[in-house]
Amino acid sequence: MLFDIDAAHGFYALNAHTGIARMTTETPQPIHLSDYKPVPYLIDRVDLDVRLDPRETEVRSRLSMRPNPASAEGGAALVLDGERIQLRSLVLDGVALQPGQYHVEKEKATIPNVPQAPFTLEIVTTCNPAANTELSGLYVSGGVFCTQCEAEGFRRITYFCDRPDVMARYTVRIEADREQAPVLLSNGNPREAGAIGGTTRHYAVWDDPFPKPSYLFALVAGDLGAVHDTFTTMSGREVALGIYVLKGNEDRCAWAMESLKESMRWDERRFGREYDLEVFNIVAVPDFNMGAMENKGLNVFNDKYILANPETATDADYVNIESIIAHEYFHNWTGNRITCRDWFQLCLKEGLTVFRDQEFTSDLRSRAMKRINDVKLLRARQFPEDNGPLAHPPRPGSYIEINNFYTPTVYEKGAEICRMMLTLTGEQAFRKAMDLYFARHDGEAATVEQFVRCMAEVSGRDLTQFVTWYTQAGTPRVTAEGHYDAAKKQYTLALEQHVKPTPGQDQKQPLHIPLGIGLIGPDGADMPLDLAGVGALNTPLIEMTEPRQTFRFGNVTARPVLSLNRGFSAPIMLEASLSTADELFLMGHDGDSFNRWEAGQRLGRKLALDAYHGTAAAADITAYAGALRKIIDDPAVDDAFKALMLVLPSESEIAAAIGSDVDTDRVHAARDGLRTAIARQLAEDLGAIWQRTGETGPYRPDPASTARRSLRQTALALMVMGDRAQGIARALAEFEPAHNMSAETGALSALVQIDCPEREAALDRFHARHGHEHLLVDKWLLLNAQAQGPNAAARIARLTEHPDFRWTTPNKVYALLSGFAGGNPAGFNAADGSGYRVIAGAILKLDSINPQVASRLATAFRSCNLLNSSRKSAARAELDRILAAPLLSRGVFEIVSKMAGS
Ligand code: PHE
Ligand code: ZN
Repeated sequence: MLFDIDAAHGFYALNAHTGIARMTTETPQPIHLSDYKPVPYLIDRVDLDVRLDPRETEVRSRLSMRPNPASAEGGAALVLDGERIQLRSLVLDGVALQPGQYHVEKEKATIPNVPQAPFTLEIVTTCNPAANTELSGLYVSGGVFCTQCEAEGFRRITYFCDRPDVMARYTVRIEADREQAPVLLSNGNPREAGAIGGTTRHYAVWDDPFPKPSYLFALVAGDLGAVHDTFTTMSGREVALGIYVLKGNEDRCAWAMESLKESMRWDERRFGREYDLEVFNIVAVPDFNMGAMENKGLNVFNDKYILANPETATDADYVNIESIIAHEYFHNWTGNRITCRDWFQLCLKEGLTVFRDQEFTSDLRSRAMKRINDVKLLRARQFPEDNGPLAHPPRPGSYIEINNFYTPTVYEKGAEICRMMLTLTGEQAFRKAMDLYFARHDGEAATVEQFVRCMAEVSGRDLTQFVTWYTQAGTPRVTAEGHYDAAKKQYTLALEQHVKPTPGQDQKQPLHIPLGIGLIGPDGADMPLDLAGVGALNTPLIEMTEPRQTFRFGNVTARPVLSLNRGFSAPIMLEASLSTADELFLMGHDGDSFNRWEAGQRLGRKLALDAYHGTAAAADITAYAGALRKIIDDPAVDDAFKALMLVLPSESEIAAAIGSDVDTDRVHAARDGLRTAIARQLAEDLGAIWQRTGETGPYRPDPASTARRSLRQTALALMVMGDRAQGIARALAEFEPAHNMSAETGALSALVQIDCPEREAALDRFHARHGHEHLLVDKWLLLNAQAQGPNAAARIARLTEHPDFRWTTPNKVYALLSGFAGGNPAGFNAADGSGYRVIAGAILKLDSINPQVASRLATAFRSCNLLNSSRKSAARAELDRILAAPLLSRGVFEIVSKMAGS
């Protein structure tokens, strides 16, 4: 049975005026880490009985509670969180509470008097899943009941102490119509199931033996198809694996299942972590706010990160599926067995789990390419966040809406911090420290300090200063000045670190920065590192702890070229002020492949800046193209690396390097102009790549084929810039007969860069071919969002009216609107303000449908502080228009007010 979410939305809108969970007239107040207090009452056991109905689901909850010995508030009232649920009854130790014995407010229920000994509370509530367009709590997607409880969704299912330090054992009974919902799933292990005599309904009971916070609760019920497999753990236990999808998608789960088994194997091998339940289930749904969710034993996924076959999924999709499955699976230990004490500690589970999934991909694929891709992502998402009004530390000190803190800073910078601890402590100690963390905190809700303490204890290192990475916002800028004294055979490296003030943090502390280092001799080989005061370095690493520091290397027999922050050992901005000749040398010779790529990026950025300022020197471009030629013509170099070398820093990176008063049209023109020049100089070499990278057999998503195709597509994108007519012809020749989605979208991505009739025809063709497939409609929306040229915003506005666009499906919004705001900077920042207008309008519309999605979209304005004054004021006007709206969610209020006030 299919519930139409759009139809349900009318109902929700009528209820919006009640102001539940949203702002009315009062300004939302922040919550502070410094106010953390243990909860006065613990919940040891939860027995849930959920009677599913699309419009009125009844939830019976039986809580076994007791006063918390760790609480200083003996005798306090019991306060339960609850949102958008109707309370039917409250029974305390078997006695029904009378209206005077409790009170219910907008977002909570209070029972002033509860026993100061163990007691049982029984709660009956109802909720309306079909009307839930926020996709938090219990909702319906594709006709399937599903839940999303992180961060604070469980309170939309029943009254509860909905915070992660309340860990309970759950038993869940689900009851539903047998035909509508033959499949009934929850956390833990299946216990019993059966028909309910004399009715059309049936039930199932699930029992989770591991105590967990409420945000890890999950329930799914519907008419789902499934694929099954098994995994035998390292101690020989057999785990039943299931992937559940909307019917008809069963043949698109094989890659996800393989990825799951790889993940399970890897966590055993690399971290000694074994899976702990009898079953592990994954469900894919089409409506989901985020990528996926690690609910204990029952991960719920956005279906774009599960479903794959060669006709519908690109290489990037395959890689994403693999790593997101791994990420959610790894949460079983980093997040679930050990969870977070409070939401300020979010990066304890997220940073660490991203780090773990990065390592997984590095071990499975190419470590060097993975590192480059992760840094690209960090620069595209986290650096801009750190460089504007939304900057916050990986562990924030306060928030208004926790959903706004699932950010690149918490996730990606959080992972960088874990990586730096690995670098500082070394492989072995790091692994031992992880073992200690698992042993010491299993079953607990932990803090960042407790994690770092394990690292410090095992390694014997003082990490006191290091913790500042968690508490301080902003990207450090490190300047390096090298000097070679040929007579003394000495190389002196003077370093300085500096962090710009960020909102609420004017004073910055110096950080403990591990810097991978190499001194490269004229022959291209690394020279020995003999550091004054230390001696020969056995690890090529120096550590900066002071604002200013000088390192002297002795026995340097020839003038070296400096290769610093190798492997991107620290998430900093490095200014090494190398000459063009030295950068070209590093592009050709750095033994650290990350820094080899990085030298190309630095030089490319410099050339783009020159072009922007009208000071480009033809000789420099020729030299740069020459260095690229050497790399792409070298048969010993990996195709994936070649592809990465051929991509210039993004427009937003160039804008950030300009720093202020940016004209985004000129940035676009400068970067494209440079790409055109490079493409013309490399025309022959790109043509040769084109000849040799065509598909020869059936599509395979293995690393070598993926690398070959990424080089092919990168070459195509450049060729379109170099010789339009020939480029378009090649793109169309690739697109028309394509039998895999990578080739199809690769050709279209090349076409959408230029304003030409062929691209419109090709986009139409794509829709005609694939309009019936929801995930491909999303790709089509995204390609449209990226289309360059005038009137980009008008195209977006038009597409929001397209019958295939749905405001209630986050993937559609992310593809079209976030894809435009983030992937089309020239269009979004159009001088006439049209881009800002269409996005602001969308934020206002979305806020009453799904405020989490609206907040996410609102972050698109985070870099406006870099722009020239006319753009800034056009953006400001739109932000003010949003703030003036009569009903605004806490989330959008928090994001927009920060940006408008900057
Ligand atoms: N915890 C999820 C993850 O990173 C992300 C998520 C957050 C999903 C909030 C839904 C809601 O794996
Ligand atoms: Zn996560």
